[in-house]
Amino acid sequence: MPNAKSGTAKSKAKKPSIKREPVRGHSQLEKYFMDSLKDIYWAEKALTKALPKMQEAATTEELQSAIEAHLTQTEEHVNRLEQVFEILGEKPQAKKCDAMEGLIKEGDSIVEETEEGSMTRDVGIIMAAQKVEHYEIATYGGLVQLAITMGRDDAAKILAATLEEEKQTDADLSEIAENDINWEAEQEGSSEEE
Ligand SMILES: [Fe+2]
Repeated sequence: MPNAKSGTAKSKAKKPSIKREPVRGHSQLEKYFMDSLKDIYWAEKALTKALPKMQEAATTEELQSAIEAHLTQTEEHVNRLEQVFEILGEKPQAKKCDAMEGLIKEGDSIVEETEEGSMTRDVGIIMAAQKVEHYEIATYGGLVQLAITMGRDDAAKILAATLEEEKQTDADLSEIAENDINWEAEQEGSSEEE
């Protein structure tokens, strides 16, 4: 039997809100998400300063141009994070990332401990850069999933674009090492022998 009132009756009851509120760090999870965002923002900004030094220290043009390409991407990663802060209604804020600081320091000491112009230096730089990439992949991977969980597909989409670039960089570095640099480093003698 058709209900004559259906379609015209107006409910005074509040509709359940489907649209999520912007993430503002209210819940524990939202706060954790925002803290992680600040952490990776610090990390990306630190990398924009560290990568040119790594590029300069690298022996081969192949590695130098791979680092240079990733520097351009990293600058874009900083911009994307600023977009994410913005759509979540927050001001971009960096919070010191101890892990990234440590990884960058490790990269610096590899450069200090290896001979200038050696292939072994490039092996070391690639490994240091891949540790950085793996940290970023873990962070962005988690952030993408958390953004989806919190109903913020808009933020997830931006973070996922960066995640894919970090994965690609990691794969590119593996290729350079495995096809070329590792083998050449294996052939080079010690400085004392030369
Ligand atoms: Fe990045």
